[in-house]
Amino acid sequence: MSSRMCVVLGLLYFASVCSGRMEPGEVLLVIACPPLPRQAKDECFALSDSVRKQHRQLERAEIFPGDYVLKVHVMQELFNYWTLLDALPHLRGQTRLLNARTEWIIWCQHNTRVSSLRGLLEQLRRQDSGELSFHGHALYDSEATIIHHFSNYKDPQRFPYPMLSAGVVFTGVLLRRLAELVASNAQNTTLPSDFSIDASHELARFIYENVTPDPHSGTPVSVRITLKSASYICPTFVSMRTAGTPNRGPRCMLHAKPEEPPAGLLSTSEHLKERCVYTTGSHIYFAIKTCAKFHKERITIIERTWAENAQNRRYYSDVADVGIPTISTGIPNVQTGHCAKTMAILQLSLKDIGEQMDIRWLMLVDDDTLLSVPRVSALLSCHNHTEFVYLGQRYGYRLRAPDGFNYHTGGAGILLSLPLVRLIVERCTCPSASAPDDMILGYCLQALGVAAVPAAGMHQARPQDYAEELLLLQPPVSFHKFWNTDPEYTYRRWLGGSSGNSSVPLAAYTQRVTAAALRLHERQPCPVVAGFLQETGLESSGKRLDL
Ligand SMILES: *[C@@H]1O[C@H](CO)[C@@H](O)[C@H](O)[C@H]1NC(C)=O
Ligand SMILES: *[C@@H]1O[C@H](CO)[C@@H](O)[C@H](O)[C@H]1NC(C)=O
Ligand SMILES: *[C@@H]1O[C@H](CO)[C@@H](O)[C@H](O)[C@H]1NC(C)=O
Repeated sequence: MSSRMCVVLGLLYFASVCSGRMEPGEVLLVIACPPLPRQAKDECFALSDSVRKQHRQLERAEIFPGDYVLKVHVMQELFNYWTLLDALPHLRGQTRLLNARTEWIIWCQHNTRVSSLRGLLEQLRRQDSGELSFHGHALYDSEATIIHHFSNYKDPQRFPYPMLSAGVVFTGVLLRRLAELVASNAQNTTLPSDFSIDASHELARFIYENVTPDPHSGTPVSVRITLKSASYICPTFVSMRTAGTPNRGPRCMLHAKPEEPPAGLLSTSEHLKERCVYTTGSHIYFAIKTCAKFHKERITIIERTWAENAQNRRYYSDVADVGIPTISTGIPNVQTGHCAKTMAILQLSLKDIGEQMDIRWLMLVDDDTLLSVPRVSALLSCHNHTEFVYLGQRYGYRLRAPDGFNYHTGGAGILLSLPLVRLIVERCTCPSASAPDDMILGYCLQALGVAAVPAAGMHQARPQDYAEELLLLQPPVSFHKFWNTDPEYTYRRWLGGSSGNSSVPLAAYTQRVTAAALRLHERQPCPVVAGFLQETGLESSGKRLDL
């Protein structure tokens, strides 16, 4: 580090580094952990144990004696935040986990693995902790995509963002700067949108747009901060041995763990059998939301793909059409929003289901949703259908605001246990007929104390809207939108066709939702949402993020 750099960056934080490390710097390893399912939580603590164990071995062997102070912290996701930007104030605030001595932060998820702590610490020693930088396995978009707010639409292939499950390494200086930007309530910081969709891309973009090496001077675009691609952080585990260079130890110090095969289905494992309930398409009621103008074009595609595995399927439309057949909701079609229609669908579905004891779940989908019934069944088999369970692809709205909330985005499909459908019909109301249905549902359920549990593999957009590596890591359960795609090809290639291709590992949720987390503590009526919606402009359906 040059002495000039020390003057610029140092003083506060790096006096110790520049003066020959009087005090050891800190390395903070944070494991961001979702509240549910329990298996993910178990993985978080197993990761934490593994890192601590490796650390003790290094200390005993005097490999890193007092070189670094290592702190390991399992960060439970609080109800509303699951993005690093939202978590920062908590790391900096009371916990003081992120402080002036922190040189490196290793940000992990439940499915991240640290295969060599020694290799990782050696690597960090070689990197410059005084630089505003972050390192990870770089993902790129193949085309501009709505899930990334169409950013860099002219040149999407050149903007790297990290694969979060592989782990991301930040310098302390960068995260302290970010924490300041977030805390100062950000008049001069730019957020692409009120929606949190892909925390990884949004983070990379926030850094690119708001962090400059010198905050007091205009910075040319050429020195903006982008993710540094790090070969020691891998999408999956690859050892040097397989790469043909034996005896050098693992090349991947951090990597993502691919999802396991379907839990609870054909599993011989006793504890999975005990935790999971065998679930098939016959246990799921599929409520498909359509309207007259799409009866021909879209329903045909569903009938040619996933319908054959979905014996309990009903098409709910603005018009009854005996030829399909569709059921009329009695609600005129609107361009966006659909709140009244969705509430009517839930009511009609409950009537239709009646006392059919076999049906445990309701899946609400659009007429341009593609899904794999076998994979949805596998996903559900380890959740408890007698409790209030709300699963889907989680998005956030205004998460940093006190009234922000999570919701499951409609196009990917929303999974509800039957008791929860009853609760919704009883408690949730639409502020207006064309309010955004999926958001109102999320808002109401949050107010009722039901968490939006993210289900990996569900997708609000088309396969080409996601980095391929992510789709390979986590076998997809659903996609949405037919434009510019061949839905039948998507169904076979990405959703495993009608067999769900059980040889492909499926989303593994091997633990039912724990009763405690989802049980309603108090049965309060759903609060009046209209005021809030007017305030945020959400009420006008034009604000809806209709993907
Ligand atoms: C925002 O930027 C303006 C000018 O660019 C500056 O005067 C102001 O102090 C900045 N506000 C904050 C909170 O940093
Ligand atoms: C599901 O939840 C109910 C109520 O909390 C409980 O009695 C039951 O044992 C659970 N089922 C499974 C398979 O865990
Ligand atoms: C299932 O998927 C795997 C991996 O994509 C593929 O190799 C295999 O041929 C598929 N099996 C069937 C029966 O389609």
